[in-house]
Amino acid sequence: MSDETPAEVPSAIGWRNFYGRRSGKTLRPAQRAYLSEDLDRLRLVGVTRDENPARAPLDLGALTGGRPLWLEIGFGGGEHMVHMAARNPQVAVIGCEPFVNGVAMLLGKIRAAGVGNLSIHPGDARDLFDVLPPASVAKAFLNYPDPWPKARHHKRRFVTPGHLGPLARVMAPGAEFRVATDIPDYVRQTLEEVPAAGFELLDQGGVPWEDWLSTRYEQKALREGRVPHYLTFRRAG
Ligand SMILES: C[S@@+](CC[C@H](N)C(=O)[O-])C[C@H]1O[C@@H](n2cnc3c(N)ncnc32)[C@H](O)[C@@H]1O
Repeated sequence: MSDETPAEVPSAIGWRNFYGRRSGKTLRPAQRAYLSEDLDRLRLVGVTRDENPARAPLDLGALTGGRPLWLEIGFGGGEHMVHMAARNPQVAVIGCEPFVNGVAMLLGKIRAAGVGNLSIHPGDARDLFDVLPPASVAKAFLNYPDPWPKARHHKRRFVTPGHLGPLARVMAPGAEFRVATDIPDYVRQTLEEVPAAGFELLDQGGVPWEDWLSTRYEQKALREGRVPHYLTFRRAG
């Protein structure tokens, strides 16, 4: 953990192997203020092992107020998640992201957009999967997951059984799972692993969803000449 990472950001990282970055550039004063002033109100309580060592399921009614629950995994700077929350006020949106700079960026965007239907787990998606009730998620987004290009690191990718099995457990039968990636070998692994985890492929190709908002990572990929690929799955059952 670097000096600029606020100590109060809860996480279960360390208990699981996590290979990504937890912090980056020094946070701007405004970003530190978002973290200290807004995160406690918006973060999901009972996800970390410290808060919930028994891994008891979250109270879904308290979380959603009866609304459908959508989940974004690795929201980065949060632009797609805020866009989805603003477009769909009838939905409760939750997102997870272990990179504290991304969490701070999201909090700034939430303030600017004034959306009130978003909650955050500032940590690993797998800790959230542990405590979400079975079949509780109506839609999930995985936008530009870390590519891990080296073959010996492919097992670190999100589209592996250790991530997809727990995701499948928390998704409702018929729920949609969207994956966007710019890496051809990631498309290959997604097409192998996601159906094996209990999802049916509905669509794939180069045309984004009609409600898509291009993310920071996608803009970088486009600038560098890589080609986006969009895959849509449905949870079987
Ligand atoms: C390449 S970035 C893409 C960010 C954003 N979705 C976008 O499109 O701009 C992948 C993100 O996934 C996050 N991530 C990696 N492993 C994760 C995990 N186990 N749980 C949640 N997020 C994770 C990383 O911290 C990173 O921000």
